[in-house]
This record gives sequence, C-alpha cells and structure tokens, in this order.
Amino acid sequence: MVSKHNKPLTIAIDGFSSCGKSTLAKQIAKELGYIFVDSGAMYRAVTLYFLEHSIKIEDPVEVQDALEHIEIRFENQDGINTTFLNGKNVEAEIRSLAVSSLVSEVAALPAVRKKLVALQRLMKGREGLVMDGRDIGTVVFPDADVKIFITADPIVRAQRRYNELLAKKQNADLHEVISNLAHRDKIDTERKDSPLRQADDAWLLDNTHLTISEQFDAVLGKISEIIGK
Ligand code: CDP
Repeated sequence: MVSKHNKPLTIAIDGFSSCGKSTLAKQIAKELGYIFVDSGAMYRAVTLYFLEHSIKIEDPVEVQDALEHIEIRFENQDGINTTFLNGKNVEAEIRSLAVSSLVSEVAALPAVRKKLVALQRLMKGREGLVMDGRDIGTVVFPDADVKIFITADPIVRAQRRYNELLAKKQNADLHEVISNLAHRDKIDTERKDSPLRQADDAWLLDNTHLTISEQFDAVLGKISEIIGK
C-alpha cells in the first residue's frame, strides 16, 4: 500500500501500555511488507543497561556517559523481531518486571529521548514503516501518513499483559501488573518531554471489546480510507 504519490507510508501507532500496539503494528507491517519498529523496546534496552551498570538516573553526567556506550539494533530471527543491546539478544530480559518498573522514569529523561528519537528517525528509509510507541505521531514523525491512537480499559490491559507474561513463563502477579501499568501511564502522560497524548490528527481506537483480528480489520480499513482520500 502506498500513498497517492506512490510513496510508501509511515504509520504511527501510539497509546497506553499493554493495549496491543505492538501486536497490531507487527500485523500491519507484515500485511503491507513494511518494516516494524517497537520503539518501547529501545527504551527498555536502555533501562536494562542502566540497571546492569547501576547508573544513577538523577546524575546527568552518568546518564550521558552511559548513553554513549549503548548500541541498539533489531534483527529478524525466525520471523520474530529481536532486540540487541551491544550485540547481545535481550528480547526476553527487556520484558521483565524489573525493567518495566523503571522504564518510564528512564524514558522521561530528555537525554535518553534525544538519543532514541534520533535513532528512530534514521529507521525511516525508502521502505514503508510502522512504528509503535508513545510519541511517534506527535514528536518522532509528526508528518506520518497514518496515525492511530489506541486505548483500552486498564483492567483489560493488565489482564492481557498478565496472560502474556504467564505464556512466556515469566513470574507475574496480577496486582503488581495492575499497579505497574497505572504507574507507567501516570509518568508517561505527565512527563514534561514528549508526554503521551493523542495527536490532533490521530484516529482513536478503543479496543477493549475487540479481538485481535477485529482490531486488525478495523485498522486496515481505516488505513485504506485515509490513503484513498
Ligand atoms: O509494552 P508496553 O506497551 O507496556 O510498553 P512499551 O511500548 O514496551 O514501552 C515501555 C515504556 O517506554 C513506556 O511505558 C514509556 O515509558 C516508554 N516509551 C516512551 O516513552 N516512548 C516511546 N515512543 C515508547 C515507549
């Protein structure tokens, strides 16, 4: 699918934690033959590095120095988008509750955002791109061809994340997951630098009562409608 000018599209998918943004973004990228980028995985990889190296996030010099030693890249392994931090596969580790508990504090640091936003912009090449996150439609690609903002009931989101952790055989406690999501939503929406908000020109989708395939059909229909205009 391309725009009227035969240019591949940039599709921005933003929204709250655990509302299925990455699942949707992956499906759309696969359907259109586009690149998929999970920008949250990048914030998670930085957080993992900070935890492993006991970086004090309130010390700007330490943070800046650490950022200069971080290299993040994605690789497609057996069809799965895999995150590498300084050459190491960290896909499982970045999804742990230890990382989830600190990631929003790390993502609120302007130095971290500056580095990752620059990297994200470089990922837009000649191919089409689907990127999901919190500030993709507002800050990273304010000119994106399609912007979707996803939301869902917080309890439903927590249940989905809890099931996902159990399926991956990770330790999980539903109450802990509920409070982690509430904590991250608060920091993500209230931070000064690039807070989570719906771009004025984004399409809002509440997927509380939608199955994954209903959501996919709705979004694909919306993309065709936007592009057809
Ligand atoms: O998987 P989940 O939806 O819970 O979160 P994620 O997409 O992996 O993002 C983890 C955290 O990174 C978020 O809670 C935000 O604090 C931060 N983030 C951000 O600030 N900006 C982005 N573009 C993506 C994620």
